[in-house]
Amino acid sequence: MKILIIGGNGTIGKRVVRSFRKHHEVLIASRNDEQFPVDISDSSSIQSLFSKTGSVDAIVNIAGEAKWAPFDSISEEDYYIGIRSKMMGQVNLTHIGVRYLDQGGSITLSTGILADDPVPMTASAAMVNGAIHSFVQAAALELRGVCRLNVVSLGLVEDSAEKYKDYFPGHIPISMSRVDLVYERAVFGSDHGKVIRVYA
Ligand SMILES: NC(=O)c1ccc[n+]([C@@H]2O[C@H](COP(=O)([O-])OP(=O)(O)OC[C@H]3O[C@@H](n4cnc5c(N)ncnc54)[C@H](OP(=O)(O)O)[C@@H]3O)[C@@H](O)[C@H]2O)c1
Repeated sequence: MKILIIGGNGTIGKRVVRSFRKHHEVLIASRNDEQFPVDISDSSSIQSLFSKTGSVDAIVNIAGEAKWAPFDSISEEDYYIGIRSKMMGQVNLTHIGVRYLDQGGSITLSTGILADDPVPMTASAAMVNGAIHSFVQAAALELRGVCRLNVVSLGLVEDSAEKYKDYFPGHIPISMSRVDLVYERAVFGSDHGKVIRVYA
């Protein structure tokens, strides 16, 4: 299979790339990638990415940002960072990407535990994660027979645990081998319209 992984150089993305590359052709895209540069917060950049990749069998997005800030200081513009990137970035990727998927293809988006179990300072990040969960469940109704659409929602992963542990006291980090498996399930399995949660 030819699989496009946006965010394939990131903490989670590079694990998934390493796992999928054993048996598949994997294209990596991100803002700083030389071969396939893309900024998902800009739909013309997404369009130009697909003009370069041509059609693919699977699209996996493991990228997107949102501002973390205390509720009493987060601004309207701060909210728009997450809305443009993690929310509309993944929505636009789905709308544009579906036209470049081969028969039987799939799209896998990424969110996280904040949608269900937020921690302080994540009003924006939690909000956009929840929005993507609703988007996937609703859009999938109309994509039946066109492509599979799912979202992987992870808890804090092992490779990020040291960096973020103070924000997630008592959370059990998700092992990187489970991270490999959940993306494997989304891409090679038969789920459709699912929020695939791995939180503990
Ligand atoms: N780490 C965790 O424990 C965890 C848990 C649950 C959910 N998540 C979610 O999973 C996703 C990936 O997390 P991560 O920890 O792997 O992040 P990361 O290490 O910061 O990697 C993010 C990757 O996405 C790319 N990227 C960021 N913004 C982009 C944009 N606008 N357009 C295109 N590419 C972009 C980055 O490369 P460039 O800088 O080159 O663009 C990088 O390759 C995030 O949405 C995060 O919220 C993470």
